[in-house]
Amino acid sequence: MRKFFALVIACLLMVTSAASAQYTTEVADSAADMAGAAAEKFYATLPAAKGEYKSSRRPILLEGAMNTETEVFVRALKNPVAYRELNYLFVAGTYKNYPVVVVRTEQGMANAAASTALAIKKFNPIAVINQGTAGGHDGALKIGDIVLGEKIFNCFAIKTSRTAVGTGAELTNQEMRGTYAFDTASGIFQPNKEYFPDAKLFDVAKKISDAHKNFNVTSGVICSSDAWLENLDFINFLHETYGSSCEEMETASVAQICKSAGVPFLGIRVISDNAVHSQAYEPAVATIAQDFTLLVVEDYIRDVLKK
Ligand code: 5AD
Repeated sequence: MRKFFALVIACLLMVTSAASAQYTTEVADSAADMAGAAAEKFYATLPAAKGEYKSSRRPILLEGAMNTETEVFVRALKNPVAYRELNYLFVAGTYKNYPVVVVRTEQGMANAAASTALAIKKFNPIAVINQGTAGGHDGALKIGDIVLGEKIFNCFAIKTSRTAVGTGAELTNQEMRGTYAFDTASGIFQPNKEYFPDAKLFDVAKKISDAHKNFNVTSGVICSSDAWLENLDFINFLHETYGSSCEEMETASVAQICKSAGVPFLGIRVISDNAVHSQAYEPAVATIAQDFTLLVVEDYIRDVLKK
């Protein structure tokens, strides 16, 4: 039934896209659904894990929200087995002879946080890489470009100024409050206006960017929320005020959980759409971020974990 609707929407997209460059989130979602249909079938064939996860080395946790954002990883795993917890899918196997777990976080902040927390409890990962697609806030970013998250923030963790009824729903008069993560120094949860990647993971990713010129990589600011923004004045406000390079729906919540749990974290995003140029969502670029991430994983295993 879902596939039938996806097909109908795809046909509508073909008809309407010729007439207009406008797009909707339904169209973006169905494009992602269709692109991920083969992965869905493949995932259904994976053997279910028997018993609790056991590994002599702590695995690397690789995250993507959707089938299109996890398929390359899962297909790269040797001896993959599937775990399901609270309906989230986790696939454990090895990559380059090192244990790796892939989680399909599902879309959005709550899902990403919940599935990451479950994965940390269940698999005890040594590092977490969250990656996927994102919409550009920077006009210089093209579809297929990669943003390495040197800073990450939740763009709706704000307090707006108090305004009177009838004066408009303007949100740019705001201050950043941040989101709460456990702080080891004080022993309590403290607000964080921004999150930062693990220095070693980031360093490995920078070296990969320098060595592999086929990827167009920039370091930048990833802004996350459950919103898909198309309001160019608001996008420009975020870009100018907080330096946001791109927006998506998972990274900041995963960074928050990883900080609380004390697990090294890195966020990598590929630009799939750019409202600045009215460029519509292109799900196929999701493979680019995964291919890049696998190179990071390989060097991280070799150079940092010294396997
Ligand atoms: N705004 C918000 N999320 C986006 N994503 C891709 N482009 C955008 C955008 N412009 C990602 C999110 C989410 C799904 C909609 O794709 O992270 O998982």
